[in-house]
Amino acid sequence: MNERTAGAREKTWQDLIAVVDLDPGDVTPVTLGARELAVFDAVDGIFVSMARCTHGAADLCDGYFDGTRIECPLHQGLFDVRTGAALAAPARVGLRMLQTRVVDGMIQVLV
Ligand code: FES
Repeated sequence: MNERTAGAREKTWQDLIAVVDLDPGDVTPVTLGARELAVFDAVDGIFVSMARCTHGAADLCDGYFDGTRIECPLHQGLFDVRTGAALAAPARVGLRMLQTRVVDGMIQVLV
């Protein structure tokens, strides 16, 4: 271990939710430890981000999801859930996305 890695914690895959427990084609709120997450069952895959909007204190799980984009319920900021990119004001900062995989029907995130 050197100075750069001292105290650094290795990321590990954590079980999040079974695919069958998702709201099909929608966004599902999931808590992992202290993290409030949004799991998006998008048209081209499953994506996971932090649930809180980057503009303010809104839970994106309460927003409108069209299969690729989530609209914030508070000020209608828009995000691409596949990349986290902020697409429309007032959202300017992209979502923090979590690396995600599916193993034996279980969605896992790297944290
Ligand atoms: S809190 Fe989400 S756009 Fe303002």
